[in-house]
Amino acid sequence: MKINLITKSIQTDVEIIIVLNKKIKSDKKILKELNFKATDEECVLLPELRKIYVGCEENHHDSIRIAISCAIRKLNSTTYKSASIISNDNLKALVEGLELGNYTFDNYKSKKDTEKKKEKEIYIQVSKITKKLQGEFEEASHISESVNMVRTMVNTAPDDFYPEIMAMEATMIAQENKLECKIYDEDYLSKNGMNAMNAVGRASRHKSKLIHLTHKVKNPKKKIVLVGKGLTYDSGGLSLKPSDFMTTMKSDKSGGCAVLGIMSVISKLDLPFEVHGIVGAVENMIGGDAFKPDDVLTAKDGTTIEVRNTDAEGRLVLADCLCYAQDEIKDIDCILDFATLTGACVVGVGHYTSGIMGNNMLLTHKVAKAAMISGELATTLPFNRYLKKTIKSKIADICNIASTRYGGAITAGMFLEHFIKEENKQKWAHIDIAGPAFIEEEWGYNPYGASGAGVRLAIEFIKKINND
Ligand code: BES
Ligand code: ZN
Ligand code: ZN
Repeated sequence: MKINLITKSIQTDVEIIIVLNKKIKSDKKILKELNFKATDEECVLLPELRKIYVGCEENHHDSIRIAISCAIRKLNSTTYKSASIISNDNLKALVEGLELGNYTFDNYKSKKDTEKKKEKEIYIQVSKITKKLQGEFEEASHISESVNMVRTMVNTAPDDFYPEIMAMEATMIAQENKLECKIYDEDYLSKNGMNAMNAVGRASRHKSKLIHLTHKVKNPKKKIVLVGKGLTYDSGGLSLKPSDFMTTMKSDKSGGCAVLGIMSVISKLDLPFEVHGIVGAVENMIGGDAFKPDDVLTAKDGTTIEVRNTDAEGRLVLADCLCYAQDEIKDIDCILDFATLTGACVVGVGHYTSGIMGNNMLLTHKVAKAAMISGELATTLPFNRYLKKTIKSKIADICNIASTRYGGAITAGMFLEHFIKEENKQKWAHIDIAGPAFIEEEWGYNPYGASGAGVRLAIEFIKKINND
């Protein structure tokens, strides 16, 4: 699909009309006969009139994304090659809805429909192509391309996407976007005391990798660090997951993939900040060499961690990555981590929403606001002193699981907080994307599979970081 901006209407195979607030203004008779009420996600094709009508009950940017994604899917079910739509003040939502709704993952299908889809031309008609509008168009295109790239990485099977491949992908993204790129192997991890991360990957035939990308600019206005959980597979380790819970765990690399995607957009938009993207790429497997419940691991900052469940592995990887970030990068203005960290977060807030945690309420609320503006769903989950006590260990400095099953998203967040240095305590936020990262039942403009959660939220947040 190619999206074009135009100012004068042109003849296309079909015209897309978004009906706002159920106010049908044209073709009333035929639409009534078809019982078209213009409710959300209701979409009809009138072949004789060459029109696609789609309902959108609220003039809200995310409702527009959903509506246009329904329309593009309808178009894809036909052989029409071109479509036009009129935009009024909603260009970003239209472009994102088209690109995100049009996505399908068919790398493993023998018969692919990508070729047919590539031929489609979409014309968005605006009143005037100003520099600002052109900028908006390009930004929306970069963001959605990145979300789709992240989706494809996450959707790729674990036997085709393991830490080494993730490091290769990172290297390629860095080359394409002129980012600095460092890849470290297990030797580096052990020499630098990153034994928590190293232990998690020990039983895998795939060696762990630490990925560090940097976007550098002259006189950066801010220094931002992004850290991602890149578990290319989470079997649970010796605390093995039951089979039903193991399927979809290829998506445990979603936080890491999101960080790679965010880095590529930051470079494309040439944002005036120094941004670091750090990913712990690891596979959590079983075997004679596996780390065990009862092991005590020492993280990079010297913290001893009692392992009571090898399935709470993400926090072990992130602990070392957060230490690495804070040791390597001085005077950080903001540090965000993205992780499919807990099932508890999904239980707590549902499949659609990410959980935002941290010590600084102002920061977590800013992240939540950015999420809302970007079209992602996210909510804050507050820490408290009582839950903090539940991750104490009787034999080590901290335990990798809490003594209570309640509040699991928050206790995992508080475990990470332990590894945040004093000077960064107010600058850090943790985003648990376990719910929305992988979609088992399609919703909105997300088909089955990975959603690319975190990318749009982060870009919106970083773009506006200097506005206060
Ligand atoms: N990767 C999982 C969390 C997860 C669950 C992500 C469902 C996406 C969907 C994580 O490593 C994990 O297994 N967490 C455990 C923690 C528990 C052992 C304290 C969990 O959530 O059950
Ligand atoms: Zn796990
Ligand atoms: Zn995990």
